[in-house]
Amino acid sequence: MKTFFFCITLFLILISPLRADEGMLIPSLISAFESDMKAKGMKLSAQDIYNVNKASIKDAILQFGGGCTAELVSNQGLLLTNHHCGYSQIQSHSSLEKDYLKFGFWAKNKQEELTNPGLTAVRIVRIEDVTKLILGLGKTDEASIQTFIKELTSKAVAGTHYEAEIKPFNYGNDYYMMVKEVFLDVRFVGTPPNSIGKFGGDTDNWVWPRHTGDFSVFRIYVGKDNKPAPYSIENVPYVPIHFLPISFKNRKQGDFTMVYGFPGSTEQHVVSSYLKFIIEKERPARIRMRDLSLGIIDAGMRGDDKTRIQYSAKQASIANSWKKWIGQIDGLKRLGAVDLKIQSEKKFEEKANNNADWKGKYGDVVQKMNELVASKIDFEFQYALGIEYFSYGPEYFKLIRGINDLIINYGKYKDKNEIQSVIDKLKISAEGFFKNYDETIDKRIFDLLTIEYFSQIGNLSMSENEIIALSTTIYSQSVLTNKERFMLFISNYTDSSKSIIENDPGFLHYTKLISKFRSETSPAFQSFNVEMTTLLKRYVEGKKVMFPNEKHWPDANSTLRISYGKLEGSSPADGMMYTEHTTLDGIIAKYNSGNPDFELLPRMLDLHKTKDYGQYAQNGELWVCFTGSNHTTGGNSGSPVLDKNGHLMGLNFDRTWESTMSDYMFDANRCRNVVVDIRYVLWVMDKYSGAKHLVDEMKLVKGKSKKS
Ligand code: ARG
Ligand code: GLU
Repeated sequence: MKTFFFCITLFLILISPLRADEGMLIPSLISAFESDMKAKGMKLSAQDIYNVNKASIKDAILQFGGGCTAELVSNQGLLLTNHHCGYSQIQSHSSLEKDYLKFGFWAKNKQEELTNPGLTAVRIVRIEDVTKLILGLGKTDEASIQTFIKELTSKAVAGTHYEAEIKPFNYGNDYYMMVKEVFLDVRFVGTPPNSIGKFGGDTDNWVWPRHTGDFSVFRIYVGKDNKPAPYSIENVPYVPIHFLPISFKNRKQGDFTMVYGFPGSTEQHVVSSYLKFIIEKERPARIRMRDLSLGIIDAGMRGDDKTRIQYSAKQASIANSWKKWIGQIDGLKRLGAVDLKIQSEKKFEEKANNNADWKGKYGDVVQKMNELVASKIDFEFQYALGIEYFSYGPEYFKLIRGINDLIINYGKYKDKNEIQSVIDKLKISAEGFFKNYDETIDKRIFDLLTIEYFSQIGNLSMSENEIIALSTTIYSQSVLTNKERFMLFISNYTDSSKSIIENDPGFLHYTKLISKFRSETSPAFQSFNVEMTTLLKRYVEGKKVMFPNEKHWPDANSTLRISYGKLEGSSPADGMMYTEHTTLDGIIAKYNSGNPDFELLPRMLDLHKTKDYGQYAQNGELWVCFTGSNHTTGGNSGSPVLDKNGHLMGLNFDRTWESTMSDYMFDANRCRNVVVDIRYVLWVMDKYSGAKHLVDEMKLVKGKSKKS
């Protein structure tokens, strides 16, 4: 009898109409979706996508630098990711003399490839469901769970060069262990100029139609045994288990697409009142903080080339979320997302209340979440603004975080040599800091953001005039706000330096605020979070139990996931149509508009005139970007977009304006990811940049191909 019911349930799950386009799926569970994917055109098997016993597509996908995705495209460890993912490396190798931002860079051979200290690329060796082990423990306190997790992970990698990590999924309803191989020598191979890699700048960011050649090229090096090793001149190019063939076939609307990468975070289950808070209060306040800093930075960058290089990466990072948030609020409002949430919460409660068992387990959870928001959401507000101020505000704060160790531990150092080596390291990182720092800009940011922060937080009393007076003192006297003063201070650090720094006006201001933030704001926010997570765990469990026929997928958490959909355009609003691809002609049309974000170097204009598209064209057109209905989020940048055979069609790098809301609510009609076509990427390497030798490393699959 039991088996019978099991079979019926399974049958129902299998035949239920899955909304194919929503969801970020766990690769080790992909076989459950194989038939749906095949129905949508895929020619691969689940085993081709994820396999721990032999090579599979998974082995070509890497987490890049912590926050992005990259993919292997040759048997010599060649790695593609987005231009904006390699941006801080590109910037750090750039100077006024070697302006790689403006002119691009291509290593002519392997000897010219540049090292990037600290940059890693991570391959997922396997994913293991450890839910039963962890929940079977019967412990609910975080400390015991963490101790057990430590044991499990160290057992899993004993005797290997791997690392392991266990993460909760579905707010603690499930746990998965990720075994990883971490590559430590990732070298910079090439990048197009900003006029290609960042074409459209902030004007086009998060927007369709799009024409950005958002890619950069790296290479993984390993020890002679083909295993990860720290940078060494002796290292050799990595021979991967699998690398992606390049899809050179013509594309058309409706083609199967799949995105394989590391999405960072989504919040599909937040309760309606929380979403309302995000839309009406939290996002607008953060947007305003960034309006202020961007106003100052943008003006500085426009006025001066040195400032442009210094602030380009910082500007891009501040502007990116700023613009996304504006689109998100807009999209959620237009969708009526809060009302939709309220409706589905009602449905949830009705279902729970119709069944005695469910009523006890889930009947009050929505109400409890709303109550928690009503009583404690201000902690989240205070926390979010703190992050804006301390992490995206005045930059000298970062310098304090850098020297804290020296100040606190000075008395404990063994001898003069140890002290000297700490100081030497600090000097090197300070060089890096001041290379990209402008006193005048930082002071202006300090003034505006401190005033804004104080007025938003409310309970920190200082008048505008007092703030300006304080900042004048800080930026004319503090050892933290000027390179000469700082280097002098660090170089001559002695027993008495501690009291100097402790009376430094810049240090005093920061420490007073940050200690309040750390001792009050942050713990209050964390405890709010813990309470909310406990409720969300119950809420998600309830959804799975009471609505077994709906598609459930765990929120993104920076682990490897798969989304699939189609190459397709969209109708983002009444009376509007987005076609599914853009071409080189569109680049030239935008250039002619005169906006500096659409600046081109003369070479592009020349190449466009001769129309030398070679093997990269489709019916005489050079595709630049296309959109797909794949559910993606931040972290999916650089992710491969694969065709039905698992061949690389392009690199994911963005979403359209109308779909930035998908982190909270996915709308299959409107949500589209934006992809740079690999044929444009290779055209830029070959025809624009003269780096054909890199294209030659890859495996191009043309015309009608068989599954490889
Ligand atoms: N919006 C994309 C992402 O979230 C691209 C960001 C880089 N481009 C830019 N113009 N800032 O990362
Ligand atoms: N550009 C984003 C990233 O850096 C991806 C775009 C998105 O958020 O969808 O991951």
